[in-house]
Amino acid sequence: MYVCICKAVSQRVVAEAIEDGARTVDAVSACTGAGTDCGSCRRSIARELERAQLGKRECGPSRAQVVAEPALQPA
Ligand code: FES
Repeated sequence: MYVCICKAVSQRVVAEAIEDGARTVDAVSACTGAGTDCGSCRRSIARELERAQLGKRECGPSRAQVVAEPALQPA
């Protein structure tokens, strides 16, 4: 799937740029060319960065656990 239509940059290429150390939309753009034309994909690049950050969290319960285990209610 393409993240950036203008520059034909795929989600995989963006993910690889993030894995290689790109931590901002501008950094991903500099590495891949995505977001350097019309700019409409910059929000999608930001989401890919957020997704990558969420995947790296190691502490605390996952969102799925929080939803699946609601707090106990007093009787
Ligand atoms: S869709 Fe990425 S710059 Fe236009």
